[in-house]
Amino acid sequence: MMATTFTLADARDLAYLIAIAGFILALKGLSSPRHARQGNLVGAAAAALAIGMTFTLPELRNSGTNLVLAIIAMIFGAVIAVPVARFVKMTAMPQLVAIFNGVGGGAAALIAIVELLHLHFLGLQPAVYVTAEVLLGVLIGSVSFSGSAIAFVKLQELITGRPITYPGQQVINGLVGIVIVAMILLALVTGSIAYVWVILVLSLVLGVIFVLPIGGADVPVLISLLNSFTGLAVAASGFVLNSALLIVAGTLVGASGILLTRLMSAAMGRSLPNILFSAFGAVITATGGEEGDAARPVRAGTPDDVGVLLAYARKVVIIPGYGLAVAQAQHTARELAEALKARGVETFFAIHPVAGRMPGHMNVLLAEANVPYDELKEMDEANPEMSTADVALVVGANDTVNPAAKSTPGSPIYGMPIIHADEAENIIFLKRSMRPGFAGIDNDLLYDPKTTMLFGDAKDTLQKLVTAVNDA
Ligand code: TAP
Repeated sequence: MMATTFTLADARDLAYLIAIAGFILALKGLSSPRHARQGNLVGAAAAALAIGMTFTLPELRNSGTNLVLAIIAMIFGAVIAVPVARFVKMTAMPQLVAIFNGVGGGAAALIAIVELLHLHFLGLQPAVYVTAEVLLGVLIGSVSFSGSAIAFVKLQELITGRPITYPGQQVINGLVGIVIVAMILLALVTGSIAYVWVILVLSLVLGVIFVLPIGGADVPVLISLLNSFTGLAVAASGFVLNSALLIVAGTLVGASGILLTRLMSAAMGRSLPNILFSAFGAVITATGGEEGDAARPVRAGTPDDVGVLLAYARKVVIIPGYGLAVAQAQHTARELAEALKARGVETFFAIHPVAGRMPGHMNVLLAEANVPYDELKEMDEANPEMSTADVALVVGANDTVNPAAKSTPGSPIYGMPIIHADEAENIIFLKRSMRPGFAGIDNDLLYDPKTTMLFGDAKDTLQKLVTAVNDA
């Protein structure tokens, strides 16, 4: 009988399998705020295990140069990424995700090219399917890299966040895409690696011109899509390198990215093609004045009056939006909720899936402020309760409570599910002015007879409300 030995290669494969299981469990954990931290930790541990075991590869163990280069690259990456990730402001998170995603796509493209050059210098003619995998990795990874770079400069306001459009834009983009496909076919037929450089340059150009017409506030959806592209590029380089780990990890990122993109588009009531190709936000729509409709009466209140209303209510629903993030008012919002609960007022937060400017924006902020998870109700859970609420306290939200989404066909947000603040007995808006939100359209709810406006920065106003509730 032959003795079976458990080799280092077997140990590595087993570790990779455990890492793959870890990635899947991490995604499962990340799908709910309650388990997101554990999910993150499991994912990080799985990645650390996979990276650690990669150092047992003969290519690294037996080559001092490769080992040193790998360690230098890791130190270089860590020195940049760790402080950036630690000190980034929550409102700047989308651009951080954009840049991290971009370098991932760029790395996948570079790996694919290096592998092709490697085969070329060894005098080997790669099989057609290997060339196809390399070229896909280069195309998708480069589009993701340059597209994410433009997304970053838009969100960082280094260039205008408005869509940049010019005549014949979609035709030019389409032509560049067609030329790339033709180059890929030529490279596959002729087996010449010279085409890879043309494909690389054109793919970088495509990434830029694809993202330019997308408005700054649609960019988070785009980043999710580019994230999915990066996953696919990583999976393609996994095929090139014969690495099951990269194939599975890349596919998981690709699949979850596309699912998130679809969820975000649906929550905005828009189709993905509309987000990608309609240059949304290029013009302020006709109904949305910069300062609202001056001819319509508005009721402005004081924190003291509203404090009394809140203190003697039975049920208060706090609806946070982008303005809460801008004002960094999450801690003060939690203090208000606590003050109300201490008086026996039933209080919870109603979270719209696209409130703010990135997926899970409100969940992340309120979790950071230690709001208990059972006080965060998703839109579908909160809406049936809105008609029994005494007060809907809308903190820096606007589009996500705008009834035009239900009642005005033709409105840019028509069809977007909203939180039914209009069904509450009293509606209080905390915002600085009558200016519209992201969609650039007026909100009739601001002029509703049931509505009271509390003008000012959300954090200041909430602070005054906490005092008023405690004094009531
Ligand atoms: P918005 O409709 O954008 O409204 C935010 C409101 O916050 C504004 O009307 C603004 O009014 C107010 N505000 C800004 N700074 C403030 C401050 N310091 N204090 C108090 N108020 C302040 O927000 P929303 O309801 O959260 O809706 C999100 C929008 O973004 C949706 O249209 C959604 O489709 C879009 N979007 C979301 C995502 C994701 S994934 N979340 C991604 C892309 C786009 P004032 O200027 O008068 O203060």
